[in-house]
Amino acid sequence: MSTQNISIERTSAPKQKPSADSLGFGRFFTDHMFTAFYSTKKGWYDAKITPYQPLPLDPGASVLHYGQALFEGMKAFAHEDGKCVMFRPEFNWQRMVDGAERLCMQAPPKELFLQGISELIKVDKEWIPREKGSSLYIRPTLIGTEAFLGVRPADEYLFFTILSPVGSYYGNDNKPVKIWVEEELVRAAPGGLGATKAAANYAASLKAALNAKKNSYAQVLWLDVNREYVEEVGTMNVFFVFEDEIVTPALGGTILGGGTRNSIVTLLKKQNKNITERKISINEVREGEKTGRLKEIFGTGTAAVISPVGELAAKDWKITVNNGEIGPVASYLYEELTGIQQGVKPDTNNWLYHIS
Ligand code: COI
Repeated sequence: MSTQNISIERTSAPKQKPSADSLGFGRFFTDHMFTAFYSTKKGWYDAKITPYQPLPLDPGASVLHYGQALFEGMKAFAHEDGKCVMFRPEFNWQRMVDGAERLCMQAPPKELFLQGISELIKVDKEWIPREKGSSLYIRPTLIGTEAFLGVRPADEYLFFTILSPVGSYYGNDNKPVKIWVEEELVRAAPGGLGATKAAANYAASLKAALNAKKNSYAQVLWLDVNREYVEEVGTMNVFFVFEDEIVTPALGGTILGGGTRNSIVTLLKKQNKNITERKISINEVREGEKTGRLKEIFGTGTAAVISPVGELAAKDWKITVNNGEIGPVASYLYEELTGIQQGVKPDTNNWLYHIS
């Protein structure tokens, strides 16, 4: 379908915008949303921006029964000069395409994805928060909508995008968080959905996160199926800074390849740091703490950008990382990446996608 066909219906009842200090993460939604429909007969059709409203969804829709659901997380920023940008949306589109292939879904074409989201942001531009550390979080989502109870890929899909003005993810100004090493539940298994941003992966993660929170831990460190190698931290990729090497677990099918992870690896390589993508066992992490080789641990993701880890604990051990403080590598990367996003540092990698 031609992207000129995106129709726009503006709300007649704009909502009151939240104050900067009340934002938190994902609590407020803007005035409009983008939707586009797909059927095997018609292809993509009826792309439109409308007032934010409930979705038309049949109770028999495949997403409700067999979980055909994929989402993305991206951010838009308003620069000092009034320009408006998204950070690496093509990366997210490609990841949705890859996920759709694994879940036998129909991903939106690149032009529809980029144009639909750009037009939506233009309509809700006044919702982009200006304060440092805040942004407009973008949630593109793809679901199977065909009403049919046989177990097979749906023939109908809905691609929609909603927007949420956000502050910091953990609401703690980047203070290091305490992380529980999860030794019972696993997030993903080889051959499964771990490398995709399937909604199912997040459903599978909730119990461990809830247990951790009950014990005052912010999130969990996920291990592989043998409970030996580190995979992710909470909903983020994880980095370990050792004296002589920075390590992030290699993507092997069970780990989600994050856009922030990819950007951090690029920034570290440009700095000529010894950054390696390889397997890292939880024993190596503990050993590194004992010998003093381990300097920092941090998570990376779109929502929090960089989230330093100040403490790692399991049933019968506990380690403190960098005295529970944010370290120099995490601080540098946070300033650098958010500086590029906010237009105050040069975008030498062409990561910014200009909307207006
Ligand atoms: C991210 O930070 O990239 C995430 O996936 C977190 C989101 C699910 C809230």
